[in-house]
Amino acid sequence: MTPIFEFKNVCYSYAIQKNANHPALQDFSVRVPGGEKIAVVGRNGSGKSTFFLHCNGLYKPQAGQVFFKNEPLAYDRQSLKKLRQQVGLIFQNPDDQLFSASVAQDISFGPLNLGLSDADARARVQTAAELCDITHLLERPTHALSGGEKARVALAGVLAMEPEVLVADEPLASLDPWVRLTMFDILQKIYDQGKTILMATHNLSVVRYWASHVIVIDAGRAVFAGAPRELLANKPLLDQTGLARVWWNIDMDYPDPANSQAKLID
Ligand SMILES: Nc1ncnc2c1ncn2[C@@H]1O[C@H](COP(=O)(O)OP(=O)(O)O)[C@@H](O)[C@H]1O
Ligand SMILES: [Mg+2]
Repeated sequence: MTPIFEFKNVCYSYAIQKNANHPALQDFSVRVPGGEKIAVVGRNGSGKSTFFLHCNGLYKPQAGQVFFKNEPLAYDRQSLKKLRQQVGLIFQNPDDQLFSASVAQDISFGPLNLGLSDADARARVQTAAELCDITHLLERPTHALSGGEKARVALAGVLAMEPEVLVADEPLASLDPWVRLTMFDILQKIYDQGKTILMATHNLSVVRYWASHVIVIDAGRAVFAGAPRELLANKPLLDQTGLARVWWNIDMDYPDPANSQAKLID
């Protein structure tokens, strides 16, 4: 397996008070395969968001290293700009992502920043808006959208950059079941284009039916990376990470996912 990302012994602590640090990632090592649909699971506070914020260089490891396509990340302006073109991050909270006055402006920010012409940027906005089913929202102010609308606008803004890797931090959390299905359709299209998707989620159905690979994070460490069925069959690990307690209805038979789309609705 050639990993698209490799984290080697990454440590990252937040300064919570004077002289007090809270370790969010500790000796965090994982290889992330390219071209897969990857679910990232773990309890609140386990370190999922901190992991994701390292993927596009927003955070820099305090120890250890992050590799993208076998190259160590560089943190100068130019390298970060190039990286963020290839790795699109959708924040856990869309309010952290949206900052322009109108939806169209927000989505065009990335493409314009890439140096595209106005016409090319407009075309990117249109394509991304159609994909995310938000063409009717383009002239609306970003602050006056519902949570689900904001989530789709944030996604469109990232897709307008045409990234190779999409890193989405709990993107389903604020979505109703219909928009959720739309989200899966969009993700499927991106996956079919050969791209890599990482999604943090608490949704067992996503792990079982959507993901082709799962990473489990527990107390700042990656404690599992592998096939979903392998994880679901690993009772000791499910017990150790507390997943067994919340996934009490895991059906170890791992049924045929032919009807997976319907089952993705909680
Ligand atoms: N800005 C922050 N300041 C201080 N501590 C933080 C901050 N963000 C996260 N943490 C802490 O770091 C740990 C990991 O958080 P996070 O990566 O957000 O986990 P997850 O996304 O899995 O819920 C948690 O214990 C959390 O409280
Ligand atoms: Mg989080």
